Amino acid sequence: MDYCMKIHAMNAQMDHTPLAMVDTYGCQQNEADSERLRGYLSEMGYGFTDDEHKADLVLVNTCAIREHAEQRVLGNVGALTHTKRANPNQIICLCGCMAQEEHVAKKVRESYRQVDLLFGPHALWRFPELLWRFRATGKRVFEHTDEAGSIAEGIPVVRQGGVKAWVSIMYGCNNFCTYCIVPYVRGRERSRRPQVILEEIRGLVAEGYKDITLLGQNVNSYGKDLDGPMDFADLLKEAAGIPGDFLLRFMTSHPKDASQKLFETMASSEKIAPCFHLPFQAGSDRILKAMNRVYDRAGYLDKVRRLREQIPDVVITSDVIVGFPGETTEEFEETLSLIEEVRFDALFTFIYSPRVGTPAASMPDPMSREEKLRNFQRLVDRQDQISEEKHAAYIGKTVRCLVDGKDEKGLTARTPGNRLVRLTGEESLIGSFVDVAITGANKWSLFGELA
Ligand code: 5AD
Ligand code: SF4
Repeated sequence: MDYCMKIHAMNAQMDHTPLAMVDTYGCQQNEADSERLRGYLSEMGYGFTDDEHKADLVLVNTCAIREHAEQRVLGNVGALTHTKRANPNQIICLCGCMAQEEHVAKKVRESYRQVDLLFGPHALWRFPELLWRFRATGKRVFEHTDEAGSIAEGIPVVRQGGVKAWVSIMYGCNNFCTYCIVPYVRGRERSRRPQVILEEIRGLVAEGYKDITLLGQNVNSYGKDLDGPMDFADLLKEAAGIPGDFLLRFMTSHPKDASQKLFETMASSEKIAPCFHLPFQAGSDRILKAMNRVYDRAGYLDKVRRLREQIPDVVITSDVIVGFPGETTEEFEETLSLIEEVRFDALFTFIYSPRVGTPAASMPDPMSREEKLRNFQRLVDRQDQISEEKHAAYIGKTVRCLVDGKDEKGLTARTPGNRLVRLTGEESLIGSFVDVAITGANKWSLFGELA
């Protein structure tokens, strides 16, 4: 905070209030990190803009999960040469998961000279110090050493959403799925102390937030690294005990430690949203083993069955990868049959993307891109039908929904299971729970009227 003050004093001497643009890619964890970076920037005296031409400082918070995400970031950072040429005092910062990758840091250092400051997720809490160093010396600052280990508390937060808030409960991942870069860039699992999490949630409820999502790469292993005997189900139960009208969600869960205790805890409280994001990644046991997922198809299906036993109308969503190295079309068909068996409400579908340094990147990968794309399309088409059928089943029902915003088509709301509902009504309803009669549906959303 001392560094924030020092930068604040510098900014106060400028002839205008300096503006910062924060550009975020990737997952909700990154969104939550950007809220903390905005918190710091605000303490430093920056205002905010969405226009890179007007920004005195551009902060790009990057994602490394797939190559496509990285290409987009590099393209956009490349385009910032023009804004910097127009405004040579513009400061360009690159942070997030890509910044933690050695080969990316090297590339940026050599070929993206417009980037003044680069730091990985481990150094996020030191952003004010790093920015100060750059501003004091004018020399580029690159900070991507592998120093993960502790958690910094007390970082200021400027939140984006009106009724929704993210709360990180832990950082990092210990699972080392063979395709995934996350454990390398975000380090080992570290849980925040329950007291600070519960305090943060109490504060959010008091501020009027209605939809609170607990975040972590694998929330089900929450607490394993803490001294006290608190696991994720215990934390969720305590959070649900906080007085107020709000809903709790969480993501992401690894099937290996999604426990019966967690399912029962969810069923025990109306404040815990009846939805579960449970990535399965592949339907074939051989591929699951090659991915190091540590469960098999039967184990996954058993978790789904037990979850539904506790919460019959639970909304289940999942992630799946098509075209993992060596996956045959027969094995891919096991993925198809798994989605047929489970009938997910929605699916996030990805084509495998090799990540430097992960074991899968050096596995033989004989299937052509065309065949992977064909399989991918079959999966998407089948899931679209299932999503549409699942949505159609809501027609005629009345559902208590949280009105969370509006766009050019009208108000948007969410069912407890997080399905998007479109309805017409007064803007003043945003932030309220209302009963909605569902009158129509397509594969993406439901349509309704105030009941
Ligand atoms: N290629 C494709 N998809 C990936 N995911 C993670 N790593 C990769 C990769 N290398 C997907 C997984 C994960 C989701 C967040 O991204 O499905 O659950
Ligand atoms: Fe990646 Fe697997 Fe960890 Fe998820 S559980 S972040 S897919 S390594």
